[in-house]
Amino acid sequence: MIRFLTAGESHGKGLTVIIDGMPAGIPISVDFINHELEKRQKCAGSGGRMQIEQDEVEIVSGVRFGKTIGSPISMIIWNKDHSNWGDKMSIEKQPQEIVDSAKVTKPRPGHADLAGVQKHGFPDVRNVLERASARETAARVAAGGIFKQFLLTKNIEIASHTLQIGDIVVDPLAGGKYTFEDIQKTYENDPEIRCIDPGKSREMKQLIQRARMDKDTLGGVVETWAVGVPAGLGDYAQWDTKLDGKIAQAMMSIQSVKAVEIGSGIENAGKQGSEVHDEIHHNGQEYFRKTNRAGGLEGGVTNGMPIIVRVYHKPISTLYKPLQTVDIETKQSTKATVERSDICVVPRAGVVSEAMLSYVVAQAVMNSKNG
Ligand SMILES: Cc1cc2nc3c(=O)[nH]c(=O)nc-3n(C[C@H](O)[C@H](O)[C@H](O)COP(=O)(O)O)c2cc1C
Repeated sequence: MIRFLTAGESHGKGLTVIIDGMPAGIPISVDFINHELEKRQKCAGSGGRMQIEQDEVEIVSGVRFGKTIGSPISMIIWNKDHSNWGDKMSIEKQPQEIVDSAKVTKPRPGHADLAGVQKHGFPDVRNVLERASARETAARVAAGGIFKQFLLTKNIEIASHTLQIGDIVVDPLAGGKYTFEDIQKTYENDPEIRCIDPGKSREMKQLIQRARMDKDTLGGVVETWAVGVPAGLGDYAQWDTKLDGKIAQAMMSIQSVKAVEIGSGIENAGKQGSEVHDEIHHNGQEYFRKTNRAGGLEGGVTNGMPIIVRVYHKPISTLYKPLQTVDIETKQSTKATVERSDICVVPRAGVVSEAMLSYVVAQAVMNSKNG
């Protein structure tokens, strides 16, 4: 079974990822992984870390002469910004003045800050925010770079696009009017927003500029497709092997994602059954559907149509006009801490969705009898 775990703090030495269970003989390109990492760094709503450092992966084990060798794959992405944080993120014990000067005591509403402090009894929010930060998604994207290269050997491809930012929505949300190739081109054609519709992209960019001026933040929706997926992956027989459930868990774990939708599940809930279900046809060789409102999954099993998953990101919670909070030391009302932050993460979060979907699909391929 394929598994992966990440480690690392936002301003620590670096991020590490270990992937276990990859088969031997898969061709691996480091440039492919670095290109994925680049997609996670740049977009219209970014907050500037890209100016400080450009992520690059170092493969430490599990790959030899450009191919996987069946042993655990480990990778590191060094945090170049760590040099500015040496004392504050020191592994070694430090004098009390440094510990105190590095301390954060004003938790930001919407972050893990207060909940994490309550969990561990920490006197310093930084112990929580360094790990809860979405910097961790760089490690997931590096892992996704491996899973995607494995899936390519099975002719399965994954791509995403921006469906909504704030209240600007690509019409119709239900899709069907664009192809997978259109989705694949959005990074090249529109790296700042990654939207299929150039008019909507302009509106989304203006909305982000306005939010930046207002010192506010925006959320939105990313849609991810996996194409070339054979019918029969996943299972209908047991709750914890249903593929829709596994996808939902993986996607919901992405920082700031608060809802996950398969196909046009949300819209479908308000319709009649006759308008929703994708009728079955056969062309003499194979089954086919003229619609894909089920998003490629029925009963927790792939049906041969593209898997379509939408994730709903909340507006991010670090605000340059900080919200009201309570100082954990004094218990006095105050304004929340401001860390360097994005305005809208939706365009650059697309590749994180791709990484998580590629993980679940790769795992399902390996678990299937044809894996
Ligand atoms: C790619 C990406 C980048 C993010 N960058 C920021 C950021 O700059 N500032 C911020 O407040 N939240 C950011 N977030 C969201 C927070 O990490 C997230 O809201 C927080 O950890 C709390 O987790 P939750 O929203 O899942 O409950 C980002 C999320 C993603 C996916």
